[in-house]
Amino acid sequence: MTFDRSVKIAPSILSADFANFGAECEAIEAQGADWVHVDVMDGHFVPNITFGPATCKAIRPHIKTVMDVHLMVAPVDPYIEAFAEAGADVITAHMEAGPHIHRTLQAIRATGAKAGLALNPGTSVGNVGYLLDLVDLVCVMTVNPGFGGQKFIHSQVEKVRTLRKMIGDRPIHIEIDGGVTPETAPLVVEAGADVLVAGSAVFKGGSVENPDPYGQNIRAIRDAV
Ligand code: DX5
Ligand code: ZN
Repeated sequence: MTFDRSVKIAPSILSADFANFGAECEAIEAQGADWVHVDVMDGHFVPNITFGPATCKAIRPHIKTVMDVHLMVAPVDPYIEAFAEAGADVITAHMEAGPHIHRTLQAIRATGAKAGLALNPGTSVGNVGYLLDLVDLVCVMTVNPGFGGQKFIHSQVEKVRTLRKMIGDRPIHIEIDGGVTPETAPLVVEAGADVLVAGSAVFKGGSVENPDPYGQNIRAIRDAV
């Protein structure tokens, strides 16, 4: 994985057909996705359950780009190794998932995966300063994690701007997750984000049998920024 700050669209397969993940990943990549975002939820840290490392391993051969795994799981440390073995390129853990995020990020890097740090909307950006040497990506949640299709929380744009200043020249991605649409994407890109996760805005109107809308939806976000 090479680093650059160009805008990358990362469709979240949370909005895909769960009976068809392999084909869905291939369809969104064929339609222009830059990364594939994989939302893991435990029904404890967030009020929803999705899937675990076995599913990630099964879909890995269907992803040619970057498998970006977002762990909404607490505790998270016991599962890092399993997601690395499943082939995750980026493993993102939440600041709020446990008391030892510094150790968690070290453990992610030790597997060889890139380390991501996610911040819930209510979490301050201040603590990130102590973690900058340990992260490859900071994910600013622009909804409360747990479900797709929620409304973008505008107060987070300022957080992105602050983070961008903190990061300076370091090779750290700023990822936005939640409520990304052609209307909200320009706000966060202008503030300094480069990876845009989008679930409902990419998958709406399309399917594996009819994937063209995926491409139109991805282009609509790209053209807006
Ligand atoms: C929310 C997930 C997001 C979500 C985004 O908990 O982390 O990745 O699927 O979905 P949309 O784009 O529909 O807000
Ligand atoms: Zn996510």
